[in-house]
Amino acid sequence: MQHEVKEVDEKWQLDGIVDVLWAAMDGIEPSHSIFFPTFGTGPQDRERAIAESKNRLWKGHEMDPSSHWIYVVEGERIVGGCQWRIYMDNPFPDPRARVNATFWPEGTGRDFASEVASQCHGQRKAWMGRPHAGISLMCVLPEKQRQGIGGKLMKWGLEKMDERDIEGFVEASVRGRLLYRNFGFLDVAYVRVNMDHDDLQRTEAWRNLERTRLPIEYTAMWRPRQGKQLTPAEAKQIWQERLKMSVRAHVEELM
Ligand SMILES: CC(C)(COP(=O)(O)OP(=O)(O)OC[C@H]1O[C@@H](n2cnc3c(N)ncnc32)[C@H](O)[C@@H]1OP(=O)(O)O)[C@@H](O)C(=O)NCCC(=O)NCCS
Repeated sequence: MQHEVKEVDEKWQLDGIVDVLWAAMDGIEPSHSIFFPTFGTGPQDRERAIAESKNRLWKGHEMDPSSHWIYVVEGERIVGGCQWRIYMDNPFPDPRARVNATFWPEGTGRDFASEVASQCHGQRKAWMGRPHAGISLMCVLPEKQRQGIGGKLMKWGLEKMDERDIEGFVEASVRGRLLYRNFGFLDVAYVRVNMDHDDLQRTEAWRNLERTRLPIEYTAMWRPRQGKQLTPAEAKQIWQERLKMSVRAHVEELM
């Protein structure tokens, strides 16, 4: 089957990617239920959640000049997609800025989701305050995986990175990591959301969310400029300073 790579310029195209995202992640990746929550158990509740995520991601895309949504079509059908954010300067002037998960209703749920989201975004903010390209929400329809579609989405971004001579960064799931390492991304740290902080009000409702929504864990991965092959000592030298910046999540250094 022929696969063609395209860039989103209208909402219906991003809507198609979001349908793929739900098929690839819902019930599979634990972080999905935090970033794209469903309130209720009926089919209409899921539809409502999908519609909300389509609107939210489109609004975010329109407001963000660094955002590029890329997708792959097989015939007329959208079978995969991801977001590349390309930054030519420091996108995180305040690395401590927190995420407010307004897509959750006010209360414990929102506070919990805000804490998770802030921890998940914390490393990128702390460690990548420089020009770079970041990958988010990489997804391929389950029945279309292992056919090179993820690789096509990667190549689009690698070309842009190498033309601009910038680094790359991604928070990788277990399967994402298998894809990214084929494209010169190196493991920097193993990260796990960690609620063991004195300032958190861990009520019974909060602990229940911990039991049902965690663990959320991933590998922070980095690609040097031009995918340069570095010796472990060279990579360690670059990361020694960056890894000193404290982040709230549990981090095990892999460099
Ligand atoms: C990660 C994902 C996007 C990969 O997409 P894909 O289209 O299957 O990727 P490709 O076919 O281009 O895979 C390229 C290579 O990655 C590696 N790879 C991908 N999935 C793998 C798996 N399940 N097991 C082992 N290796 C895998 C292989 O090296 C593969 O090459 P090969 O098939 O020739 O061995 C897809 O598995 C997916 O949507 N997963 C669920 C969502 C997710 O975890 N997204 C990543 C968020 S960080």
